[in-house]
Amino acid sequence: MSQPTIESILNEKRLFEPPAEFANQARINGMAAYDALYEKAAADPAAFWAELAEKELHWFKKWDQVLDWQPPFAKWFVGGKINISYNCLDRHLTTERRNKAALIWEGEPGDERTLTYAQLHREVCQMANVLKDLGVKKGDRVGLYMPMIPEAAIAMLACARIGAPHTVVFGGFSAEALRDRLNDAEAKVVITADGGFRKDKTIPLKAAVDKALENNAVPSITNVLVVQRTQEDIYWQDGRDVWWHEVKPTTSAKCEAEPMDAEDMLFILYTSGTTGKPKGVVHTTGGYNLYTHMTFQWTFDHKENDVYWCTADVGWITGHSYIVYGPLSNGATSLMYEGVPRPSNPGCFWDVVEKYGVNIFYTAPTAIRAFIKMGDDRPNARDLSSLRILGTVGEPSNPEAWMWYHKVIGGERCPIVDTWWQTETGGFMLTPLPGATPTKPGSATKPFPGILADVVDLDGNPVGDNEGGYLVVKHPWPSMMRTVYGNDERFRRTYWEHIAPKDGKYLYFAGDGARRDEDGYFWVMGRVDDVLSVSGHRLGTMEIESALVSHPAVAEAAVVGRKDEIKGEDVYAFVTLEGSFSASDELKAELKQHVVDEIGIIARPGEIRFTDALPKTRSGKIIRRFLRNLASGEEVAGDTTTMEDQSVLDKLRAGA
Ligand code: WT7
Repeated sequence: MSQPTIESILNEKRLFEPPAEFANQARINGMAAYDALYEKAAADPAAFWAELAEKELHWFKKWDQVLDWQPPFAKWFVGGKINISYNCLDRHLTTERRNKAALIWEGEPGDERTLTYAQLHREVCQMANVLKDLGVKKGDRVGLYMPMIPEAAIAMLACARIGAPHTVVFGGFSAEALRDRLNDAEAKVVITADGGFRKDKTIPLKAAVDKALENNAVPSITNVLVVQRTQEDIYWQDGRDVWWHEVKPTTSAKCEAEPMDAEDMLFILYTSGTTGKPKGVVHTTGGYNLYTHMTFQWTFDHKENDVYWCTADVGWITGHSYIVYGPLSNGATSLMYEGVPRPSNPGCFWDVVEKYGVNIFYTAPTAIRAFIKMGDDRPNARDLSSLRILGTVGEPSNPEAWMWYHKVIGGERCPIVDTWWQTETGGFMLTPLPGATPTKPGSATKPFPGILADVVDLDGNPVGDNEGGYLVVKHPWPSMMRTVYGNDERFRRTYWEHIAPKDGKYLYFAGDGARRDEDGYFWVMGRVDDVLSVSGHRLGTMEIESALVSHPAVAEAAVVGRKDEIKGEDVYAFVTLEGSFSASDELKAELKQHVVDEIGIIARPGEIRFTDALPKTRSGKIIRRFLRNLASGEEVAGDTTTMEDQSVLDKLRAGA
């Protein structure tokens, strides 16, 4: 691991108090209220969560034990029976929410759909019954490879309803990546669409599924359920493939929610790590339901009539927790948008905010930076006065982007919640509460009540104010990942052994460096491991290197991140070629495409540099630090005497 470095944010001193009129009406109205909650939770986390679980959720049967902690394995609400689809749907049907919009959906070509809670419930029940008809039983895994259409949420809730864990694979991943994930999860059915619309193009999702399943490459799959979206011609395999719109009309809309054990698996979501293939992060039912419910409610200060919009894709944890489960569990109106800003319509986000009167808007710093580049005219031309709260997630928010968001989008009246969390944490860990926490541009501020976070050294000792260290969590929380699917040992190794206190205590560490300032504010400084954040998407350098090396021309590859104004980081690859191949622009293009085929468009290297050799230590380890310097055009910093062959670096410098 590399040592976290302190960046320019060290000098950020601005402080923004929640506007008084906002704070007065907020659920958590002021720092005293936050402090009281925080203290109460810290004194007895289990009791704190149990009280909320009882008050906020429906249980078929109450738990026997709140927390069973056998480090690093936690169980929450042991013995409790619950169904998250019931909490997101059924329980609202007996209230005034029955005919309230659950999902408002805006399609890329401008089509639209609104589903009330009653309508959504009906569709979810129908899809659940279709899955049952296809032989899916409680415990069977179901793969989802979907565009951003209501059926993506419907499919997730349908799986949850019958107790079949879903594994959603982002539509931007390739057929290869999809195949790996379906195989790892041993999925029984895949739910997909003929295609999806993205940036003035269509993406052939069904064709990718066909390719992934070619030659029985995923033997566990029995059926493919296909939603019609683009109406393009697709290959059809009778007996395996089933059209949703054909089976739906004759399928019953009655399907009771299966009472699930609180610790039954709700979903697997794959994410990149430092070594090997992506790992399947396992989340379970009860704790995840409670934590996404509470964090959504308090962090977004949710009010009954709010229109809430999270711009993420359901293929990421953000979409799981804060498009589908958190909002719907609260009976909120969640807006789903199929599009992304594109050259032909860079103002589409603001069009959507104005059109639907969005009150709570949640997006990523990379998007904000892209909007800054496009100028203020587009947002200024729209009525954004409905906005009440703005949020960010995915990477550290640079103070410039934060200030622009605050001024141009928020009209200086909307609190910004910069939420730090991870696929593994299930929900927000560090975040302001908008009516309480004074914000500082670039800081995710303070822990959510019940989260005991700290910044420590490698032995787990807390470091001093403003000293860089490793961001850890010291006590289990309800929505923490339970394990790596099928690999408890990898779970232990990856998250619990890097920081090893001498007293044997377990600290959760998932790879970020941070510092805490004199006011107790956390400043997340980014990954300290070999994981890149490209447009807020997490990519393992090893994963991209393996993809490159699988090409016959490549002998060796080393991937590092290069700072990018919009994406945060861009993929920069150093490649040495097999003897019979020679460097050319064509080969560069081919290798970039090869990475796209192996992983997906999000991993496409921005730059590939051919070299005769890579800088290595005498023991043969690639010295990435030097490569990072070279990629960003900086002077190579640090001790170069550990290198095996000094001339390698000279050549790389000369060729720069
Ligand atoms: C990594 C997790 C959680 C959903 C999106 C990404 C980085 C996330 C912030 C933030 C600074 C952030 C971290 C983290 N990250 N939010 N507000 N400030 N960094 O989920 O793919 O699991 O990635 O994203 O580096 O470890 P993910």
